[in-house]
Amino acid sequence: MLERLRIFDTTLRDGEQAPGCTMTPSEKLSVARKLAQLGVDIIEAGFPAASPGDWQAVHAIAAEVGAGADAPVIAGLARCNAFDLDQAASAIAPAAHRRLHTFIATSDLHIHEKLRSTRGAVLARITEMVGHARQLCDDVEFSPEDATRSDRDFLFEALHAAINAGATTLNIPDTVGYATPEEYFELIAAVTRDVVGTRKVVVSTHCHDDLGLAVANTLAGVKAGARQVECTVNGLGERAGNAALEEVVMALSVRPQQYFVHSNIVTREIGAASRLVARCTGVRVPPNKAVVGANAFAHESGIHQDGVLKNRRTYEILNAEHLGLEGARLILGKHSGRNAFRRHLAALGHELDEAEFEAVFNRFKEVADRKKVLTDREIEAIIEGETSRASAYYALDLVQVSCGTHAIATATVRLHGPDGRPLVAAAEGDGPVDAVCHAINDCVGEVADLVEFNVDAAAEGINAVGGVTVRLREKVASQSIAGDDAERRRVSTGFAVHTDIIVAAAEAYVSAVNGLVRARRNDAVEVPA
Ligand code: KIV
Ligand code: ZN
Repeated sequence: MLERLRIFDTTLRDGEQAPGCTMTPSEKLSVARKLAQLGVDIIEAGFPAASPGDWQAVHAIAAEVGAGADAPVIAGLARCNAFDLDQAASAIAPAAHRRLHTFIATSDLHIHEKLRSTRGAVLARITEMVGHARQLCDDVEFSPEDATRSDRDFLFEALHAAINAGATTLNIPDTVGYATPEEYFELIAAVTRDVVGTRKVVVSTHCHDDLGLAVANTLAGVKAGARQVECTVNGLGERAGNAALEEVVMALSVRPQQYFVHSNIVTREIGAASRLVARCTGVRVPPNKAVVGANAFAHESGIHQDGVLKNRRTYEILNAEHLGLEGARLILGKHSGRNAFRRHLAALGHELDEAEFEAVFNRFKEVADRKKVLTDREIEAIIEGETSRASAYYALDLVQVSCGTHAIATATVRLHGPDGRPLVAAAEGDGPVDAVCHAINDCVGEVADLVEFNVDAAAEGINAVGGVTVRLREKVASQSIAGDDAERRRVSTGFAVHTDIIVAAAEAYVSAVNGLVRARRNDAVEVPA
């Protein structure tokens, strides 16, 4: 008999906290929709007190994705203080099922060096604030941050205080990815066995990947009795990331006799969820990534190819089709019609409105004219470019460059500004792309640092389409509404695809600038007290 394991997805909170993974509110909403289709039990939608934009995004997800009796639980993160908890409670209010997730550090290192506090004060805060959370919400999760480096007796005192104050889930974070699977197994077993009252609550894992052990530790925790796992799509998260949802879920599904649990995840949605998160964050999936990497089902050596052709199971323990990684094997090119194209987009998991579909279809035809046949990756790159263009403040109208071995690279750029006015600038640079970026900066007056520039052939071959990813970080820190001194400089990712790499670079840069402008306007919204 397999017991039920709850999947708590924190892609939109811990995942989004990773450097450069910031998503716009509409990107967060589309990721949340996909997480609901994927069948996750709890969506941690964000950290509402961090900024008005975060509050808005959590509220929008709670109102849309959290609506209805079958909707997933929508969780909001809060530090152990009344301001954070009140912000989180108001942000998740529209959801049918709500959870407040509150945390405070319990290791001496964090208590003394970070909080400048004492064990006694931390215990008092847990009692008071978990109690406050329970006044606001029936479902309260408590996390002792840095649990795996905390003194065992004090950790258990803290967990006991949280249960007494009304916590319904106890999460045991390996905040810095320090534990080994044996240690984490032992800790979860001890929590479920020795903390008075744990039988009334769900014990949860939360593992980071600093030593590459996040998934192994999570599975060890499940073996020891945890009945909730916290994870992220593609393993995104602070520093080296969190336990990857797709890896944990597939390990449980392929080896049920090891873990004796089952989840509600719809595995066919894993491929689409992985691609969507990669597109929205601009963080691509490495080819050798387990389960969802491009090479996960590729066989190059003759012996392997021979084996797979005779019986797939000789070298594959997962089925690409069951993970939604195959896509419809349809060749799409310049002769493809509207209906075939629309059906193909639906098979890839894209729901576009009419205006977006028209823009994507027109661009597809334009590229297909030069390239004959387009791959799914190229088509998805076009969708990304066109759908973000729809909500753009600046639109690229013209780009022209002059460069070469004996020439100073110069670029002329013309954009349409927010009021439709043309903005024209010319600039020199170290190369044609640098010159284009300078010219765009002159047009928009944006003050941002370029933190990543990546060119990628969106398919193999001499006529491949170039995909360019640009990541910008604003120069001036934005204000946190929690009033803390944490510096939050927004990062925005732009992606574009074109047969001309310079045009792709210009479009990606403009798209990243649009992302920054959009994020600033969203953060300027009012948040209820
Ligand atoms: O890693 C961590 O400790 C966290 C907590 C907020 C749960 O993300
Ligand atoms: Zn974490």
